Amino acid sequence: MTTHKAHCLILPYPAQGHINPMLQFSKRLQSKGVKITIAATKSFLKNMQELSTPVSIEAISDGYDDGGIYQAESFAAYITRFKEVGSDTLSQLIETLTTPGCPVSCIVYDPFLPWAVQVAKKFGLASAAFFTQSCTVDNIYYHVHKGVLKLPPTDVDEEISIPGLVTIESSDVPTFEINPESARILEMLVNQFSNLDKVDWVLINSFYELEKEVIDWMARIYPIKTIGPTIPSMYLDKRLPNDKEYGLSVFKPMTDACLNWLNHQPVSSVIYVSFGSLAKLEPEQMEELAWGLRNSNKNFLWVVRSNEESKLPKNYLEELKLASENKGLVVSWCPQLQVLEHKSIGCFLTHCGWNSTLEAISLGVPMIVMPQWSDQPTNAKLVKDIWEMGVRAKQDEKGIVRREVIEECIKIVMEEEKGKLIKENAKKWKELAKNAVEEGGSSDRNIEEFVSKLVTIS
Ligand code: UDX
Repeated sequence: MTTHKAHCLILPYPAQGHINPMLQFSKRLQSKGVKITIAATKSFLKNMQELSTPVSIEAISDGYDDGGIYQAESFAAYITRFKEVGSDTLSQLIETLTTPGCPVSCIVYDPFLPWAVQVAKKFGLASAAFFTQSCTVDNIYYHVHKGVLKLPPTDVDEEISIPGLVTIESSDVPTFEINPESARILEMLVNQFSNLDKVDWVLINSFYELEKEVIDWMARIYPIKTIGPTIPSMYLDKRLPNDKEYGLSVFKPMTDACLNWLNHQPVSSVIYVSFGSLAKLEPEQMEELAWGLRNSNKNFLWVVRSNEESKLPKNYLEELKLASENKGLVVSWCPQLQVLEHKSIGCFLTHCGWNSTLEAISLGVPMIVMPQWSDQPTNAKLVKDIWEMGVRAKQDEKGIVRREVIEECIKIVMEEEKGKLIKENAKKWKELAKNAVEEGGSSDRNIEEFVSKLVTIS
């Protein structure tokens, strides 16, 4: 029987971009001897396409067991009910987990669910907030929480200068539509800082070398530990024999179709295109993107989720299949890490969700950034101007990135001198990401320290 050093209960927010990093972090803790139980909502577990993990998963309820957030009348209603029902069902779960040998000593929670701290206190457990976005973005929400910054900024031409952060334009801060639903989402993002004065650790899925200044500044206020990138080690090191990839995904990846197609493409020739698990593009934007990719005359692998497929131009998929050069493949979901590490990939056209951004950094893939909303414009700014790992596809005054702009960006990254520089920087960041999580690296040391403290309190 395995003896564990400590037992952590992990509480992710039930969305793909949040589950992924927390699952990978859990695996890392488990490899260091910590027992893990993930508390996932019944509705999320119900929709799971890929459910194979080496860690135990237990169900809690968000109060909407059939459809989760899609069943709720509004985002506000969802968050309120999740707090009520989630607190109760999480407490019940902790009670059942205290009986056998290794009781829970710490809750690692997504700060979208700040009520978890009260549950931890009720049971005398330690707590760690796990931020799934960049430290820069967290810093911006912190200043909104403190009332120092207003989102959206009042002046569109304003330069924003807040402690710990490079000066940015108002167009680089997180963006939200102006409607009550988006206002509630922003409120939740800002509320990540409520209860944060009561936690024992603040874990951030980033690495020190990537965001030094802002991490140092935030560390004066909170007990910050960067523990990322939470990429499976096999993608950062040599693939170890018997080391398996584990997933928790609501989408079914078309793995064979993607890899078979990529295996037939020349080295560094393919543009990989994805907008993550949530983004909904305007039909006009979809059309421009579709023709921009085709007109670039380059090979491309494009993830179009099935709920977005109807926005593709008429006959686009059929024509793509018929085209003799076999230049493009559209799939509904792919194994993104396997794709990004494939030798045929030349660049990543991305919405700059934080996971995708970190994954591209960790695998050294140059980016064309096309942010949509929330944290993505800030991530895009960092990719282009601070890490110099990509170019930005600029929108016109209607908010649409035109096909010519997409073609131009592809040309810059794939063919021009500037692209060479971007590729060199991408290599540099890949190395730094790998060093951070390797034994003795900045993130590894933080995880070791976290585990030793867990052991002393268990
Ligand atoms: C959301 C927000 O939109 C994002 O801005 C925030 O930083 C995190 O939460 P999402 O839009 O889904 O996430 O984007 P991202 O953070 O990039 O996460 C997507 C995840 O899905 C990545 O881990 C990526 O590897 C994975 N993915 C995506 C696949 O496995 N296959 C795909 O085909 C597409």
